[in-house]
Amino acid sequence: MAAYEVDGQPIVLVYPIDGEVIAIQGFCPHQQFSLAEGDFDGHKVLTCSAHVWQFDVTTGQGINPQDCELARYPVKIEQDEIYVDVVGREPRRVGV
Ligand code: FES
Repeated sequence: MAAYEVDGQPIVLVYPIDGEVIAIQGFCPHQQFSLAEGDFDGHKVLTCSAHVWQFDVTTGQGINPQDCELARYPVKIEQDEIYVDVVGREPRRVGV
């Protein structure tokens, strides 16, 4: 995983072993800890390092707990450059 900022929006790029690059919001919807500090299982489960919430990065859906989600952003790769479109997609926060 790697943390970046796109148009002022913190994002994390995730590189699944068996998939394509995924862009997700850069902070946890729970208490906004950096998700780049979390643990990724290499396939789809990202675990926040703060309070161990887990997410499926392939869908953005919360696994534990299930009533939360991550914003995912479209990714385009052209000539080794990665483009992430964050326009119109707000990061998710619990209770917001
Ligand atoms: S801030 Fe991520 S689980 Fe609490």
